[in-house]
Amino acid sequence: MNRRDQRTTETLLSAKRVLARCDALARISELPVGLTRVYLSPEQRAANDLVLGWMREAGMSARLDAVGNVVGRYEGDRSGLPCLILGSHLDTVHDAGKYDGMLGVVAAIECVHALKEGGWRLPIAIEVIGFADEEGARFNATLIGSRAVAGTLRKEVLDIVDSAGVSVRDAMLRFGLDPTRIGESARRREDVLAYVELHIEQGPVLENERLPVGVVTAINGATRLAVEIDGTAGHAGTVPMTLRQDALAAAAECVLAIESRCASVPELVGTVGKLETHPGSVNVIPGKVRFTIDVRAPDDSLRRTAVDDVLAEIRQICARRRVTPKVTKTHEGGVAACEPWLMEQLGAAIAAEAIPVRKLPSGAGHDGMAMIDLCDIGMLFVRCEKGISHNPAEAITAEDAETGTRVFLRFIENFRANKR
Ligand code: GLV
Ligand code: MN
Ligand code: MN
Repeated sequence: MNRRDQRTTETLLSAKRVLARCDALARISELPVGLTRVYLSPEQRAANDLVLGWMREAGMSARLDAVGNVVGRYEGDRSGLPCLILGSHLDTVHDAGKYDGMLGVVAAIECVHALKEGGWRLPIAIEVIGFADEEGARFNATLIGSRAVAGTLRKEVLDIVDSAGVSVRDAMLRFGLDPTRIGESARRREDVLAYVELHIEQGPVLENERLPVGVVTAINGATRLAVEIDGTAGHAGTVPMTLRQDALAAAAECVLAIESRCASVPELVGTVGKLETHPGSVNVIPGKVRFTIDVRAPDDSLRRTAVDDVLAEIRQICARRRVTPKVTKTHEGGVAACEPWLMEQLGAAIAAEAIPVRKLPSGAGHDGMAMIDLCDIGMLFVRCEKGISHNPAEAITAEDAETGTRVFLRFIENFRANKR
C-alpha cells in the first residue's frame, strides 16, 4: 500500500463544502418552502445532475444506474479492483431535514475529492452511491435503490402505485429509465468488499453523551403495511349513528390499538404516518380510508408478534364495525447487524481522534438493510442537534461535519478488506 502522511490528505477536506453542498441539495425541492424530493421526480433528476457533477470533480467516473441511483467510481492503484461502497440516499421524506441521507453522500464524495487532490490511489476501488429511494415517501415501499444494487429488488415493485395512481413502472418510463432493465443495477458479490455509510444519528444518544460520532452495531428491523378500510359513504345528516359503516371511525380505533400494542414493550415502536379519507367532505360519512403502519424493533420475533397482534386487532375492530379491511405488506426487513470487523476499523478511526468509541444501534432504517444481502455493512453516526430528524429543524454543527468526515476519511485510507 502506498502509505503516506494521512494528515496531508485530511487538510484537503472541507467541511464548509460539505455543508454548502447539503444546502444546495436542500434547495432542490417540490415545495417552494421546505424540502421534499421523492423517487423519480423532476427534483430527483436535478439532484442527480448536481451529484454527478461533484463526483466527476472529485475524480470519479460517474453514471446513473438502471433504477436511478447515482454511482461514482474512483479506481484504485490498478483499474477494475473490488470496491468499498460508500454512500447514502438522495430522496427525502415530506418536509424533510437537509442532512438525512445527503450528508452521507456528500461526505463520501468529499473524502474521495481529498484522495484525488492528494494524488492518492488506494489498493482498492471506492464507489460512492447516492441511492434513489430509501425513504419510500412516494410509493410506500422503501430501499428500492439499494435493493436493486443488492440484486434483491422484486419485479412486483413495478406495480406499486403512488397516491396519484402512477405506478413505479410508468414513473420510471417518464423519468427515462427502462423498467425491464432494473436487474442491471445489481452488483456481483466478488466485486464488492463492504458497504459503509455515514449518517446523522437521528436520535439524542450522542448529543447526550457529548460525543460527535459513534459506531452503529445494528439497524432495527421494520415492517410497513398499507391498510384500506371499506365502509359505506352516506349522508352525514340522515344515517343514524347505529346504522353507519364509518371507515374513518374504524381506522381511528385501529390507530389507537396500534399505539397501545406498540407501547406495551420498550424498544418496540409503531407509527401511523399517513391517513387518507374518502370522499373527504364535511357532510359525508367516510366510505373509504387508507393508512400506513410502520412497526420496528431491535428483535425480529418481537416485531413479528406485534405485527400479528395488530393485524388480529384490525380484523376484530372491522368485523365489529361491519367494515372490510384489506392489508398489503409494502416492506419487511429483519435486523441488519453491522459486521464486527468494520465496527473495529471505524472504532480505530474514531479512537485516533482521542474520542471515546461509543457503539449504538440504529432505530432508523438505512440502505445497509438492503446492502447486507450483497456484502458486509458498517455505519458511522454523526451527532445531530437534539436528535431531531425527519423534520426541517434537523441540524448538525460545522465541527461535527468536519470530525465525521475526517474520521470517515481515516477509515477509508486504512481500510483492510476482511479476507474470508
Ligand atoms: C428512514 O429514514 C426510515 O427509518 O424510515
Ligand atoms: Mn430518513
Ligand atoms: Mn436516512
